[in-house]
Amino acid sequence: MAKAKSVFFCQNCGYESAKWMGQCPSCREWNTFAEEKVPPRSASSGRGREGSRPVPVKITDIEIREDERTGTGIGELNRVLGGGIVRGSLILIGGDPGIGKSTLLLQTCRNLAAAGHRVLYISGEESLRQIRMRAERIGTSPDGLYLLAETNLGDIREVLEKEKPEICIIDSIQTMYSDEVSSAPGSVSQVREATGILLVLAKTLGISIFIVGHVTKDGAVAGPRVLEHMVDTVLYFEGERHASYRILRAVKNRFGSTNEIGVFEMRDTGLHEVLNPSEYMLNGRPEGASGSVVACSVEGTRPLLVEIQALLVRTSFGMPRRTAVGTDFNRVNLLMAVLERRCGLDLGGCDCYVNIAGGIRMNEPAIDLGIALAVASGFRDRPISGKVVAFGEVGLSGEVRAVSQAQQRVAEAAKLGFDTVVLPAASMKSVRNAGGVRLIPVERVRDAIDALTGKS
Ligand code: TYD
Ligand code: MG
Repeated sequence: MAKAKSVFFCQNCGYESAKWMGQCPSCREWNTFAEEKVPPRSASSGRGREGSRPVPVKITDIEIREDERTGTGIGELNRVLGGGIVRGSLILIGGDPGIGKSTLLLQTCRNLAAAGHRVLYISGEESLRQIRMRAERIGTSPDGLYLLAETNLGDIREVLEKEKPEICIIDSIQTMYSDEVSSAPGSVSQVREATGILLVLAKTLGISIFIVGHVTKDGAVAGPRVLEHMVDTVLYFEGERHASYRILRAVKNRFGSTNEIGVFEMRDTGLHEVLNPSEYMLNGRPEGASGSVVACSVEGTRPLLVEIQALLVRTSFGMPRRTAVGTDFNRVNLLMAVLERRCGLDLGGCDCYVNIAGGIRMNEPAIDLGIALAVASGFRDRPISGKVVAFGEVGLSGEVRAVSQAQQRVAEAAKLGFDTVVLPAASMKSVRNAGGVRLIPVERVRDAIDALTGKS
């Protein structure tokens, strides 16, 4: 038998190298390499050919069944999945430890079991009694939900082949191990091997499998990023651990659109859906403060209003400090350069702190105008009316460029009782119905600043 060879894997992104390195050339993280023994190729199990010879099939001969998607009973989760769980799909749910992955999946299992589906929850982290206790806290447990505490994939495979549940949860992939691989559970080779086995089981038995993957920082445990290419759908759970809301974001979805988000609130009785996230995000907004403006970003198909705050103070050292929380730091720097050069704001002597209130992360260019207005308002110390929403992409010449879905953004502002919307002039033609709000079309950032904070 060929000898097992030893290689080094970046535990963050899965980059493979023959020797140890301090920094990963792929993801640029430091100190993430760990040595792992990999078995010679032929021994890799589960992915071998099964049954007869492969035969190509005509695409028109393949039948599509009506019941391909199963609703989860949680509207926000259905939305990010693209309408429900696709039969035989492999879904990865990543997120920091303690963010609520197990809670969400347990709630999903309860709903599915209550709707008459066969559901198996396999946990490698908690004992059966602990899971039951958590389930009791969330609500009563239905009959058809089966639990299993197991970490050996060989055993799990046998159980799945025998029980054939419709939906199965693996919590978490980092605790699972296969006997075929000698490295420790949680290492890149183990996590990949385990996912490979689950992939084959999902496709051959038609079981939809949810895999939980913890996002880790210490480098000892492989993160979910190393699995993204193997699974059908990748969802990430985000949110401040100390804030109560959580955002579930689809970053890859073979059966639906990405960038779709679901918003939840963590309460003592588990996760609850937030049906109107804009209202939730805008809670506790200060009245009449300078440096605050409401912007509108579209996440997937849903417009979301958020408050952008900017605080400008005179810098006490030669070098001004710039900080961005909840958005891209370089984007903020770029917008400040545009404000300085194209709008005549002398920001060079100011420290600037930009924050998206509520702890949510937004990267859509449509919030550019909101950031620019917040900075300008903070710099001039002139408040912008709390009834204004702004959106638009800002270009380097100080122009405000069109963004998609202008109509939806205006409608969301109208729905939440705002009376004015500042939008790119080029987006005006796509707004058919203003819903009673006043529209201020702008061509340049300077026009927007003048319109909202008065002429300088
Ligand atoms: P959990 O689902 O165990 O996180 P993960 O599986 O992602 O590691 O979530 C645990 C956190 O959620 C924990 O800090 C307690 C909190 N929590 C509540 O606030 N309310 C609840 O009803 C439950 C079940 C958990
Ligand atoms: Mg958990």
